[in-house]
Amino acid sequence: MDKLIKPVSSLKGTIEVPGDKSISHRALIFGAMCDGDVSIKNLSTASDCASTTNCLRALGIEIIDESNKETIVKGKDLHGFREPENILDAGNSGTTMRLLSGLLAGQPFYSILTGDGSLRDRPMGRIIDPLRLMGANINARENDRLPPITIIGGKLNNISYRMPIASAQVKSAIMIGGLYCEGETAIIEKFQSRDHTERMLKYLGRDISTSDGEIIIMGGTLNPNDIIVPGDISSAVFFIVAALLTEKSEIELQNVGLNETRTGFLAALEKMGADIKIESTGANNEEPFGNILVKSANLKSIEAGAENIPSMVDEIPLLALAATQAEGTTIIRGAQELRFKESDRLAGIASQLNRIGATVIEQPDGLIIEGPTPLMGGTVDSFGDHRLAMALTIAGLIAEGETIIKNAESVSISFPGFFENLRQLQDRF
Ligand code: S3P
Repeated sequence: MDKLIKPVSSLKGTIEVPGDKSISHRALIFGAMCDGDVSIKNLSTASDCASTTNCLRALGIEIIDESNKETIVKGKDLHGFREPENILDAGNSGTTMRLLSGLLAGQPFYSILTGDGSLRDRPMGRIIDPLRLMGANINARENDRLPPITIIGGKLNNISYRMPIASAQVKSAIMIGGLYCEGETAIIEKFQSRDHTERMLKYLGRDISTSDGEIIIMGGTLNPNDIIVPGDISSAVFFIVAALLTEKSEIELQNVGLNETRTGFLAALEKMGADIKIESTGANNEEPFGNILVKSANLKSIEAGAENIPSMVDEIPLLALAATQAEGTTIIRGAQELRFKESDRLAGIASQLNRIGATVIEQPDGLIIEGPTPLMGGTVDSFGDHRLAMALTIAGLIAEGETIIKNAESVSISFPGFFENLRQLQDRF
């Protein structure tokens, strides 16, 4: 689908973004592993999370979905899954494939996981290596690198694993495998990735300790408990940047997740001179949330390095857009992981922003962005990558003239209501 975007003068209003995608995947998977029913409120409407639901159903789990208001997962304990009759389809979702691999490694049956063209091109050696060390019989295409993945699981042994890259998906796959082990599984991270798995497993009664980059988890059962999913900060950020970059804007985003392993982008924007206020804070199931208030601002450039990337890994394309409007040269380094996302996000955002007038220089591990540069409308391609589609839409709002976003339907991978929410914030008066 091509989407036509026209410039807006300012954004005003209050909205609530849908439930966090990362936390929703975990709520579904851990709910299925609990010994009893788990109620999930405000589950993400993302099609990625629907992929997780479908895979769990194919593994014999009943999931009753009364719209996104309340979803009931009828947990069957760690060992109640059944062998799927067909190949499991993770769609576009790396989280589905990698977290479920950890779960399937612990099952004494045969399963195959595949996905769409983008997912079948994403690296899986990173989960295959540790799960093999734990004892799983797990293989993949092209020398165990690419999906489909076949798994014959069973009894797993605990390991101590030093993570070669910062990845919450890999860490979570090992932790899920660790639930099937007797005793302690240890994971050592150089830079902390998002910790939703640690928090939710603790909330569901598991013994987990974290200190100095080392996570230790004890194997064993999960106790059912109700989960309320906060709004997705990685969806809220698009409106935050839109408000910052348009004049006389003032918006409020309610009940947004504020887990500090996810808020690196807010910190980066504040360093760039953004005016961001947090109000009405609280916490549910170990996950903090609050309302975010943002006003237009003049931004200045920043530098971000490898240590800053994990807490804003999904926001780098949007940071690049914000930097095109900031005074000075923004330098992003240590972000090579972006090349292995739903698309090569470094190449994608650099080429598409340059098409509409920006000066973005691609580096092997990052981007150099000169600002401020006015953007001119034109045709840009999201390459079917949801986060590029949304970042380019925000670029279209501040560009002169009209912008066409190709493959814009991909927004539904993480945020089906993105265009409706954006319309609600447009100040037409
Ligand atoms: C996610 C982890 C990150 C992130 C992805 C969701 C998760 O991926 O980019 O959107 O839910 O664990 P990596 O683990 O590959 O860094």
